[in-house]
Amino acid sequence: MKRRSFIRQSAVAAASVAMLPTGSLFASAPGKVKLGYIGVGVRGMSHISEGLLRDDVEIVAICDTQESSLKICREFIAKSGRPKVKEYTGGPDAYKHLLDHEDIDAVIIATPWQFHYQQSVDAMQAGKYVGCEVIAGLTVEEHWDIVKTSELTGMPYMTLENVCYRRDVMAALNMVRQGLFGELVHIEGGYQHNLRAVLFNNGKQIHGGGVEFGPNAISEAQWRTQFNIDVDGDIYPTHGAGPCMHYANINAGNRFTNLVSFSSKSRGLAAYVQELSPGHKNSKINYKNGDVTTTMLNCANGETVLLSHDTHLPRPYSLGFRVQGTKGIWMDVANGIYIDHQAKEDDVWDPAKLWFDKYDHPLWKKYEKLSEGAGHDGMDWFVFNAFIEAVKQKRQTPIDVYDSVTMSVIAPLSVNSLKSGNSLQDFPDFTKGKWKERKNNFALDDSGF
Ligand SMILES: NC(=O)c1ccc[n+]([C@@H]2O[C@H](COP(=O)([O-])OP(=O)(O)OC[C@H]3O[C@@H](n4cnc5c(N)ncnc54)[C@H](O)[C@@H]3O)[C@@H](O)[C@H]2O)c1
Repeated sequence: MKRRSFIRQSAVAAASVAMLPTGSLFASAPGKVKLGYIGVGVRGMSHISEGLLRDDVEIVAICDTQESSLKICREFIAKSGRPKVKEYTGGPDAYKHLLDHEDIDAVIIATPWQFHYQQSVDAMQAGKYVGCEVIAGLTVEEHWDIVKTSELTGMPYMTLENVCYRRDVMAALNMVRQGLFGELVHIEGGYQHNLRAVLFNNGKQIHGGGVEFGPNAISEAQWRTQFNIDVDGDIYPTHGAGPCMHYANINAGNRFTNLVSFSSKSRGLAAYVQELSPGHKNSKINYKNGDVTTTMLNCANGETVLLSHDTHLPRPYSLGFRVQGTKGIWMDVANGIYIDHQAKEDDVWDPAKLWFDKYDHPLWKKYEKLSEGAGHDGMDWFVFNAFIEAVKQKRQTPIDVYDSVTMSVIAPLSVNSLKSGNSLQDFPDFTKGKWKERKNNFALDDSGF
């Protein structure tokens, strides 16, 4: 099936619900990856559509606690012409039966955040590669436990951080590696996305149409909104942190040493509900999470990294990337790049496109056509491909367990910083000193990694 029509059908369907492993661990024939999916909501379905498009992927089983999600997935797979898959449901532990499948090589986990840690640990213990959606766990201890489990079982764990594969993000990485920005000094990124219509809906459509959350809503409003009531912090740091880590060689000759978070007052969500439905009970809730949370991190090599979480106010989407060194700077909001002595005009931005076209990453050059039509401007193809290639070739994943937990643990550390009066939080060294010798192997060439 052609990607475009296939993806379109997927979108319509979703909207209507409103340390290297050993070869012996692998069940399927070389060249074919047998996949199980835990959570087939909106994001899980996007990974399903990627899986169905590939000849080297066989979807063996899916698990979800809601029939509405399973039904969409079931019908979608049937339309693709692929064979029926085994389904698991019946409660939050149903995924354990999926993990009993000996012929599943790897699982894609796309459930609400609170389930990621346990499902990942159980999957690794069952001998499966884990490709888990952002974020890894809710506490610092859970992040350590994921590392421990991966080390003990030898099963790789990858955060499916798609923004690491965004085209401009990768072109900037290419430029960093070729020294265009000089020695890096400061990096920024974040998640600046008006999520109000994702956090509230009418229980029929996944986007807006009402001001409900929890059991009266569907998709992310069912579970994500509650986090904004319960905690104050950068609860979604990986889209910004992942790329910044690659620029700064974090866990590969560099590391985060500590962080501190600040949070503004929280007004956006209550104001949104009040505007759409004056007097509604959800407009009277004390949403604990500040509207704009800013986290500063120190790096062992002296760079600073600034991350923002800004999802409750009206604003255009921007992840706010900034890469700045002794010779130049990229700022994505400015759509500009400035390289000293090479810019067209002194102290004036060059259009970023000029540079990014020239320094397009080899991976994008090679796979541009294949990724056409994939989610988030193609980057979803790359992250899925990287995971599948790692499983197929029985190698470590390009975003390994150390990098995965490092980008994710910023969430609980940020919460801890805010809880304790903006106190500085020591950053755990999940590599236990190995960061000094480790090399940054992420996307070195066009081989898929
Ligand atoms: N990388 C990205 O660009 C991106 C985009 C969207 C979402 N996400 C992430 O993907 C994950 C899922 O988000 P979503 O938008 O698909 O949410 P969703 O609410 O649409 O889907 C979650 C699904 O998990 C199911 N589920 C809940 N508990 C379960 C359990 N114990 N076992 C099995 N299934 C269970 C739900 O029934 C639902 O179908 C989240 O981590 C989210 O942050 C990432």
